[in-house]
Formats: sequence, structure tokens, C-alpha cells
Amino acid sequence: MPPNATSAHAGSPANLTVALTGASGIVFGQTLLRILDADSRVARIHFIASENSLRVLAEELGISGRSSLVEKLLGHASAKIAQHSENDVGAAIASGSYPSTGMIVMPCSMGTLAGIANGLASNLIERAADVCLKERRPLLLCLRETPFNQIHIRNMSLAAAAGATIFPIIPAFYNQPAGIDEMARQFVCRVLAHLGLPQPGAFIWKPDDLNPSST
Ligand SMILES: Cc1cc2nc3c(=O)[nH]c(=O)nc-3n(C[C@H](O)[C@H](O)[C@H](O)COP(=O)(O)O)c2cc1C
Repeated sequence: MPPNATSAHAGSPANLTVALTGASGIVFGQTLLRILDADSRVARIHFIASENSLRVLAEELGISGRSSLVEKLLGHASAKIAQHSENDVGAAIASGSYPSTGMIVMPCSMGTLAGIANGLASNLIERAADVCLKERRPLLLCLRETPFNQIHIRNMSLAAAAGATIFPIIPAFYNQPAGIDEMARQFVCRVLAHLGLPQPGAFIWKPDDLNPSST
């Protein structure tokens, strides 16, 4: 039975896992965390930043070090975000018995894609993703690389066949975003709509007008 990618929220508070890996586009992951932190439908966020994501964080956002990383990314502390070490394979989300509602890897490097697609489970990111697949929970892999080689394409196919949603960081242009922040925000809105967490202000192409008085 294929996983139901729209069932992450399903009316009860969401308990999501977010991983940042060492691909370009870290601002997308930062935006995701900010939106989820502000969303009252999300009760818990388990957060993992790979060792290599720290290098990209430094390059792209000028954020250095692992200590107080959540505060640095959000601009404030968060009671609902629990940060885990990439090496902590004993964290709650490493077990299928823990009631996670799904996982988003944003951005997802080709290295982490390879680990997930081939079931390596060699760190907490790969293990938590592996758990999502075996438990038929939503797993969204927001990949970032260009161009793709055949290994990347094969790994995408393997992960998709196992139940992951391949959701590459390919932002929209038809909404005429004013800059990178808006582009990232609208992309994150698309990802969260896919998980059943539609966001206010999300761009919709030709929305239905359900208010007759405005016509
Ligand atoms: C500035 C910078 C940008 C990078 N961008 C990408 C990228 O877009 N996609 C990718 O797959 N790897 C990218 N890499 C390489 C990954 O960081 C590297 O393959 C790493 O081993 C991934 O490890 P992780 O998946 O454990 O985070 C980048 C590295 C650096 C330093």
C-alpha cells in the first residue's frame, strides 16, 4: 500500500521531522523551520542538521557552529523544536514505535539521497527516513543538484519506488516572487500543502472565487 502523503496532519497535531543536509539552498530549510515553528497545528519538530549542512550554512547564510543552531536559524528559541545530533541513532525518531507523522529533508543532498535510497541508515537522518518508509509515513526529499548523473536519477527512482516523494527544490516563477525569501516561502507552502498543512498567503494559480459578493 503506498503511503498517503496528505495524511501527515489529518486533524491531529503534527509531529514532524526536518533534516537539513549539505546541499545548496539552506535558506529553504530555514524558511521551512520558521513556518512550522509558527504553525499551531504542528506540536513537535524533530530537527537534525547534518555535519556537512553546517558548512553550507556558513557559506550561504553566514551562520557558524552547531550550538544554539535553532536560535540562529529562527532568530529566537523554540519550545517545540528538539534538535538531535546526526549521530544519535538512539533518538525517538529512530524507532517506528514513536508516532512521527512524517519527515522533510530540505535541502537534500545527493549523498543523503543515496543513503536513503539504498537503505543505509548510517546516521539519524537516513535512519529516520528509513523508518518513515517502512512505516508508510510521508517522506519528502527536497533535492538540490544540477545536472543529475545517472546515479542520482537511479537513486531518485529507488526512493520513489519505496514510497518517498521526490520534491526537488524547483521554485515557481509564475507567481513573480519579489526575491529569494518569497521564492523560498512559496516553495515551502507547496511542500506543506502536500502534507495537508496549507499556509496562509500561499499562491494559488486561478483560485476558485467562492465569495459571490465579490463578483
Ligand atoms: C557550498 C556547498 C554547496 C553544495 N551544494 C550541493 C548541492 O547542491 N547538492 C549536493 O548534492 N551536494 C552539494 N554539496 C556537497 C555536499 O555537501 C556533500 O556531498 C556532502 O557529503 C553531503 O553530505 P550530507 O548529505 O551528509 O549533508 C555542496 C557542498 C558545499 C560546501
